[in-house]
Amino acid sequence: MIRKKAIEILNENWQGNFTIPCDGLYPFQWKWDSGFIAIGFAHFDMDKAKKEISTLLDAQWENGFIPHIVFHNESDTYFPGADYHQSNLHPKASKKYKSTGMTQPPVIGFVLKELYRISKDKKDILQFIETVIDKVYDSHNYFYENRDPYNEGLVYIYHNWESGTDNSPMWDGIFKTMDSPEYNFERRDTAHVDAAQRPSKREYDHYLYILEIAKEHNYDDQKIAELSPFLVQDPLFNSILIKSNQSLIELYNLLVNNQEKINQLKEWQAKSIETFNIKLFDEELGAYVHYDLRHDKQLKYISSSSFTPLFAGIPSQERAQILVNTLNEKFGGKDKYLCASFDPTDEQFNPVKYWRGPIWININWMLYYGLKKYGFNELALRVKKDSIELVEKVGFYEYFDPRKDVYKNRTLGYGGNNFSWTAALIIDLLDE
Ligand code: GLC
Repeated sequence: MIRKKAIEILNENWQGNFTIPCDGLYPFQWKWDSGFIAIGFAHFDMDKAKKEISTLLDAQWENGFIPHIVFHNESDTYFPGADYHQSNLHPKASKKYKSTGMTQPPVIGFVLKELYRISKDKKDILQFIETVIDKVYDSHNYFYENRDPYNEGLVYIYHNWESGTDNSPMWDGIFKTMDSPEYNFERRDTAHVDAAQRPSKREYDHYLYILEIAKEHNYDDQKIAELSPFLVQDPLFNSILIKSNQSLIELYNLLVNNQEKINQLKEWQAKSIETFNIKLFDEELGAYVHYDLRHDKQLKYISSSSFTPLFAGIPSQERAQILVNTLNEKFGGKDKYLCASFDPTDEQFNPVKYWRGPIWININWMLYYGLKKYGFNELALRVKKDSIELVEKVGFYEYFDPRKDVYKNRTLGYGGNNFSWTAALIIDLLDE
């Protein structure tokens, strides 16, 4: 019974007011993990789901910013930790919690809507939502005010860690434009996980270099927009923002006296969807792509992020069909599980290395609901069945090899085991 095991994992990773993504490897609270984890808890322990979200929001900065990691404890099994990030450099950072000075995909808006969908006590959950929804709204306001320098409706990320897809081959070309020094530091991740499945030392140099620049300017948004060598409009990040905008509109409509906020959200939404469809689509590839704002060009690669606009209802039905054709053709061969995180037909595809090829269950979860929304039920079902089958075969890992034939010999997944969002979202898929 994998459902029972999933519940055990979430309860084990629960720390009393938040949940770690994975014991040892990720010992703090991560923003988008938290959201996915809350969806899992909502199916069997709504109090924990609520607490998970309110703890994360408690670490929100005065300017609405929600950080990517909240350092609740002094664990030294992680690099780079609180002392490296120094969130206190920013004048509006939380005084209560140490955190990073970067963010992650804004999932909390749609997560609140998921809690509402799953809850059997709508009155109770709405009462909870009422206490937190303005904070989530403020975090969207932060993005539109500070991360959209040309007022296009698309927000940028300034670090690959903000994307959630840390070492995607998408970033390789950008790193080549940077003259990152070689730093001396002790990594902790490779003490937990085989180095072949993690980013390289050189990649870490780049990650630290971007951070150094941001820190040098006290995480000032304007300075970062001006100076960061990494400035990207990411289709995954912006899809999630758009999906969350929509959820906030729907939830505010269930509450009273929020017309002004609803109007503002609708305004953002219209502009965001329009620009997204113009600027982040590539006709030739038949897919959505990333836009490198620093070098003013599209990054012409297909990744699993290319299909997440389906989850947010961004493409027309016609364009959704084009996406599905691309998905089937490049990612959907009978010899593969869905959905590889990077184009399996590209030479940079690596089926064992983190975001350079392996399957991640949070992306599959978004694809499942996105495909269903557009009526691609058979393909949606395949994504769901593949996700469950992988977990049944090898366990609740962080990521999985998309090649079917390796499982003749392979009994393990990749990265951390007993990984919280894998557990949480499998519960949701099983119960759906
Ligand atoms: C890795 C993932 C990121 C996730 C974090 C914690 O850094 O790339 O998306 O949030 O682990 O699980």
